[in-house]
Amino acid sequence: GERLKAAAAGSNVQFGSAISPVFYMQADGALYESIAASEFGVMSPESSMKWIAINPVPGQFEFADMDNLISFAKANDMQVRGHPLVWHRSLPDWVEQSEVEDREVHMREFITRVMNRYSDDVTYWDVINEPVADDGGMRDSLWFEAMGEQYIDIAFAQARELDPTAVLVLNEYDIGFAGPKFDGLLSLLDRLEAREVPVDAVGFQLHVFSSFDQFDELAANMAAIAERGLDIHITELDVAIVNDDSEQTQADVYSSIVDTCLAQVRCTVIQSWGFTDRYSFRTTQSPLYLNTDYVTKPAYQALQEAL
Ligand code: XIL
Repeated sequence: GERLKAAAAGSNVQFGSAISPVFYMQADGALYESIAASEFGVMSPESSMKWIAINPVPGQFEFADMDNLISFAKANDMQVRGHPLVWHRSLPDWVEQSEVEDREVHMREFITRVMNRYSDDVTYWDVINEPVADDGGMRDSLWFEAMGEQYIDIAFAQARELDPTAVLVLNEYDIGFAGPKFDGLLSLLDRLEAREVPVDAVGFQLHVFSSFDQFDELAANMAAIAERGLDIHITELDVAIVNDDSEQTQADVYSSIVDTCLAQVRCTVIQSWGFTDRYSFRTTQSPLYLNTDYVTKPAYQALQEAL
């Protein structure tokens, strides 16, 4: 069968995955790389662009891992999703412990450093990651504490200025079904639009379970994003197996999610969060489409056919 990126090209979407250079260093690194190179048209750095990786100590910037990933992407014609510029996690202690009144300066500095270095090579930026709380209010993060909701406006405006041609994304989890969190996201998007904040797309993380069956709600949520003139990205898809479900049940969830996105013309990118169960951040639930020995599971064929 066709490679996933080729299958996706036929549907006018990009397909890809998160990639981590940590795994190149393993004995199976060459295999990991060659699969990524042949299957993916776009990649996210799994953790190499996070603040704790790039700027662990004040004034000290460590770009080597990220530079290597960018070279790998370029050598293999992959687009890059910059991930994440502003998040409340994966922060170094010095940022966690910073004074409230200094945080806007720190945030702006990080965005400037990363975007100046990588904007030529990045197509999509996850500018803001996980801003909404489960109850639909704003997440009470250290950024929110310092700047209120304006931190989102500031970051997007800065991102647009530093990379005018990139697609700027607001990325969020648990928005694939109806409920207060998705309602809160919609009202946030409406407030941002009213303030002319340059958001181009919403990223649906979609770390879901094999029991997921709210496909109508997912379709309605995606339609609501499209109605607001925004692109739809699936940014971190994986399907953890629960309740002794079979790999075929998992595969069915993968294909129904892809079908639901492709039914929307604004669906432009679909990415999984890793590709082999050997290296997933969900360590126990075999959430991906290659097994721990890189052998294809039913979910791989489901993706090939759905894309
Ligand atoms: C995760 C990585 O996969 C882990 O290796 C790391 O320890 C923590 O971050 N949502 C996101 C991703 O936006 O950045 C997270 O990645 C997974 C959840």
